Amino acid sequence: MTLPAAALHDAAARFGTPLYVYDAAELDAALGRVRAAFGDARVHYAMKANPNLHLLRRLQAAGVGFECVSPGEIARAEHLGVAGEKLIINGPAKSDAEYAAGARLGATFVVDREEEVGLLPSGSRALVRVNPALSVSTHDHLATGSEGSKFGVTLEQAPRVLEALRTAGHTALGLHVHIGSAIRDAADFTAAFGRLSDLRSQTGPLAVLDAGGGWGLGADLPGIAREAHAAAAVFGAQLWVEPGRYLVAQAGTLLTRVVGTKRTGRPFVLVDAGMTELMRPMLYGAEHPVTPLWEGAGHSCWDVAGPACESGDLLARAVTLPTPSRGDLLAIGEAGAYGAAMSGTYLTRSRPAEVLWNGDEWHLIRKRETPQDVWASEL
Ligand SMILES: Cc1ncc(COP(=O)(O)O)c(C=O)c1O
Repeated sequence: MTLPAAALHDAAARFGTPLYVYDAAELDAALGRVRAAFGDARVHYAMKANPNLHLLRRLQAAGVGFECVSPGEIARAEHLGVAGEKLIINGPAKSDAEYAAGARLGATFVVDREEEVGLLPSGSRALVRVNPALSVSTHDHLATGSEGSKFGVTLEQAPRVLEALRTAGHTALGLHVHIGSAIRDAADFTAAFGRLSDLRSQTGPLAVLDAGGGWGLGADLPGIAREAHAAAAVFGAQLWVEPGRYLVAQAGTLLTRVVGTKRTGRPFVLVDAGMTELMRPMLYGAEHPVTPLWEGAGHSCWDVAGPACESGDLLARAVTLPTPSRGDLLAIGEAGAYGAAMSGTYLTRSRPAEVLWNGDEWHLIRKRETPQDVWASEL
């Protein structure tokens, strides 16, 4: 976490907690690292990681394109004037509305199954998503390129689907692979790109290889980039990538206040954020760094629990903290990706505000919801 503690205290006092805070400098730095590693590859940000319009505009201004996987995400792209080469439409079960929007906006579609060839609007540009059937170093629910996952076509089907696209009058741009998220071992990417490269004798040269995203935060980006470029070169293709988490995770922190403590079988520090604001620990057993923003003695080990009436509502386990008191602030790091994006209104909890630190001051980039906002569309 790069934000100064005084700025975090100020944000919590002004905007309340729970609160998502973002550091613009870290956002720019992450994009800089991607560009430094991947050179001239085209970057489409996977909007699912964090779809806040303010952050999207910032990435758009930096020349980044977008990957969308739902009608709502496509609507965000359209709202921002994103179209044509800057837009990819992906997803395993696209609706008619998504095909129509993609056609209107001139997007590139990622075909996820053979049947989709017949569903695409006429004259579409398309990539074929390949499932390389690998076991990948991440949580099962985050693995998308493993045998038995619902994503993509098999290695055997891929050349046939490319051919079917051409026969149907579409532009078969090339292949796409995304093996999962928060992948720890760079060798997984090497293996995936290798399996795609093996298809070259059947596909012939291709215009595009989309190497997806999924890079863990500590990933050897230059190493992954080298392998991705090498695979693209096998096809004579331009390299595209679509990172989500890597671009935004470290820029974001979830600020939460201590509500109290209790000791049952374990020592709990209870805080005002939980599974509704950061679902990743519950969903994937994800571990987020936790930083206490108070000083004191009596360091001991605590589980950090949220306010929901759910046993799984834990943000972290066995964190060493100075003795906590009601009102103390905790910073949950690496929360910029799939934090606000996955936040929900279960228990009629209103979603937190989001603020961006530009080095000098805070900018409110999403208002805190009220309970009335949550029930506004109910009749
Ligand atoms: C097709 C596709 N591309 C890119 C991403 C981004 O993944 P990550 O946020 O791990 O980089 C995802 C996320 O699951 C995805 O499904």
